[in-house]
Amino acid sequence: MKKNGWILLLYIGFFCTCTSAAERYDTKAFRIVTKLCSPCHGTPFYMAKQIDEDNWEYFFKTPGELEKIHKGNTQALSSLKSSIFQQKKKRIMKYFINNSKFSGSVHGCDANFCGTHH
Ligand code: HEC
Repeated sequence: MKKNGWILLLYIGFFCTCTSAAERYDTKAFRIVTKLCSPCHGTPFYMAKQIDEDNWEYFFKTPGELEKIHKGNTQALSSLKSSIFQQKKKRIMKYFINNSKFSGSVHGCDANFCGTHH
């Protein structure tokens, strides 16, 4: 019985690894960024690649930093203020980090995205 328990645990661990690998990127974060940031920054993957992971963390984690960069830019500020951005800020940061400059990920076409076209 005890041995079976371990096998079951191993099996569950294996299963979880597979499912997270199958999710190639966060499509929810992708859609939010497309709506809020893409009109000025290009597609979310293109945008993510502009800076490295440390910079993404810096911009997202320094209080008021994103607002400071976009000072006087009404459209950008209203994106940053929107409740959807506020709620999903952490998730969006993770999406950018996972696809950042040195992440090594390159995306082909799928249902949401193809090359640099919207
Ligand atoms: C209305 C246009 C506009 C929108 C919308 C917008 N931005 Fe920006 N953003 C800018 C401009 C302009 C700059 C300054 C670019 C520069 O200095 O070269 C900038 C700069 C930045 C930078 C600094 C990058 C760097 O290398 O210095 C970050 C990070 C950033 N924006 C994140 C975001 C995020 C996240 C969103 C969506 C929630 C967003 N922006 C929406 C116009 C916009």
